[in-house]
Amino acid sequence: MYKETDFTKISAEVLEQLQKGAFLTVSDGERTNTMTIGWGSVGFVWKKPIFMVMVRYSRYTHEIISKAKEFTVSVPLGGQLKDALNVCGKKSGRDIDKFKECSLKTEKGLAVDTPIISDCDAHIECRIVYRQGMDGNSLAGDINKNCYSTKDYHVLYYGEILKAYKK
Ligand SMILES: Cc1cc2nc3c(=O)[nH]c(=O)nc-3n(C[C@H](O)[C@H](O)[C@H](O)COP(=O)(O)O)c2cc1C
Repeated sequence: MYKETDFTKISAEVLEQLQKGAFLTVSDGERTNTMTIGWGSVGFVWKKPIFMVMVRYSRYTHEIISKAKEFTVSVPLGGQLKDALNVCGKKSGRDIDKFKECSLKTEKGLAVDTPIISDCDAHIECRIVYRQGMDGNSLAGDINKNCYSTKDYHVLYYGEILKAYKK
């Protein structure tokens, strides 16, 4: 049973788990994929509550989200699904069906067509309102060196939070 909530009420626990891993699920209408994310931010921009996720160009997820209008973030607040987070953070949806491989059950989002991962406790459903590929020249030199030695930059996807809910 889910309870809808203001995202500010769950953001602290969501951000704490995000550092260990959460599922970013994307769909372009034909293909659906999920991958582990560890970086992102929440806040208010353009008078809207926003969840920003970062997807490197090399990811299969990028192929899909670049054609998508929305995404979901599913967060295992109780520390469950560790093996699935591991697999979804290492293997690509180009090579395997991660939902099958990890026995991940999904259900329909409340406000979007992209599914959520059932066994997670918190879910955030977003409409993409802005996307921006990173410009390495505008980045601090130390971060550029440490995080982007192969120049596989992130694309930043800003999602307006349409629904946030928790079990
Ligand atoms: C804990 C953890 C956090 C991660 N965070 C991100 C992230 O924020 N952005 C990203 O592009 N990749 C991140 N990754 C790597 C992707 O999850 C990984 O490359 C994945 O296999 C991509 O799957 P795909 O090719 O199906 O999109 C993370 C991996 C782990 C293990």
